[in-house]
Amino acid sequence: MRVSIGSDHAGFALKEQVKRYLTDAGHDVTDVGTHAEESVDYPDFARAVGEAVVSGAAERGVLVCGSGLGMAIAANKVPGVRAVQVMDAEMAEMARRHNDANVVTLAGRYIGPARAESIVDVFLGTEFEGGRHARRVDKITALDERVQ
Ligand code: RB5
Repeated sequence: MRVSIGSDHAGFALKEQVKRYLTDAGHDVTDVGTHAEESVDYPDFARAVGEAVVSGAAERGVLVCGSGLGMAIAANKVPGVRAVQVMDAEMAEMARRHNDANVVTLAGRYIGPARAESIVDVFLGTEFEGGRHARRVDKITALDERVQ
């Protein structure tokens, strides 16, 4: 799968680990940065990953900051992005099955590599259920269209 990944400084270490994990698993991973520990602003990377997903350059996005929260808020400002902050694999599964989430955000200061790997495995490997959930996701998309 084509995956766009990004982080701020607080998510840098976990982003590097997740990037290596996904690459080793055979995914086509594009890293939009950051590339060092210096302090940066997370919305810049949320925007880059969000735009990659909405344009179709990537099928899914992964963002890491300290809490995952700012990344989710920022990424969801990009029309077409459905970003979710996820702390465990079960929530990742629900975000895919019911919400057709296309970006997952991770908390670099709260979870370790093993948890992050289990989350991204499920996030990339779970299909959207469609059906009644598609109607609801369409209503989310309509909210995007209202502000464009
Ligand atoms: C950076 O200190 C921190 O605010 C950021 O990584 C993130 O947690 C914001 O939501």
